[in-house]
Amino acid sequence: MNIILLGPPGAGKGTQAQRIQDSHHMIQLSTGDMLRAAVEAGTEVGLKAKAFMESGGLVPDEVVIGIISERIDQPDCKDGFILDGFPRTSAQAEALDKMLEEKSLKLNAVIEMKVEDEVLADRVAGRYSCAKCGAGYHDTFLQPKVDGVCDSCGSTEFKRRADDNRETVISRLEAYHAQTAPLLPYYEGKGVLRSIDGMASIDEVTKQINHVLSAL
Ligand code: AP5
Ligand code: MG
Ligand code: ZN
Repeated sequence: MNIILLGPPGAGKGTQAQRIQDSHHMIQLSTGDMLRAAVEAGTEVGLKAKAFMESGGLVPDEVVIGIISERIDQPDCKDGFILDGFPRTSAQAEALDKMLEEKSLKLNAVIEMKVEDEVLADRVAGRYSCAKCGAGYHDTFLQPKVDGVCDSCGSTEFKRRADDNRETVISRLEAYHAQTAPLLPYYEGKGVLRSIDGMASIDEVTKQINHVLSAL
């Protein structure tokens, strides 16, 4: 099964993709995570992406399309993948269609996580993750069971993203509404769009997604 999680910054795509990866043995493919790794490693892709990401704008289509196309070819994707943060423009969606056709792969569903703009800045500003294993947390909404210790791996080191501040969130939201939201009617027209209430609690959202997946 291959799916897309579509939603604005802070909608919960990464949080839910990690859970689906664990429960359904599908691989999370986050272009944001891949680009951040490239920036940290100082690769050619990272050098191209850094300024776009810091300003809250989108990285050029050809860069992300290239990354995803290579990644989907890896053997661990053959049992299914969850696209988290891709596609984000019409050009990316069309490139994905072409890629899937060439690789004889099917897109089973596009899950839209509907969240009102007003709550997104608080979600993004309070986010942090484990520096060792990447597990995601939130200052208020998702704290580790033991204060300062990662639930998943026991590490006591955490990190925050360079673009997780209230100013950059505004640009990221603008990019979402202008360039990514038009993909909703595109996928609706293909009959694969499923919408869920992303305003609900994290566990409730997981239940809704599991319900969608079990009906596929
Ligand atoms: P990316 O990393 O994809 O960021 P994003 O789309 O802005 O989404 P986020 O990761 O911020 O949010 P999320 O939906 O994953 O939320 P999360 O689960 O963490 O992209 C970053 C940048 O990379 C882009 O700006 C762009 O420059 C570039 N880029 C990436 N892909 C690209 C592409 N395809 N094309 C061009 N450029 C690209 O949740 C957020 C917080 O809220 C967490 O702390 C979580 O604990 C909490 N939370 C989650 N769900 C709930 C809930 N239901 N209730 C309460 N709290 C919740
Ligand atoms: Mg994310
Ligand atoms: Zn950890």
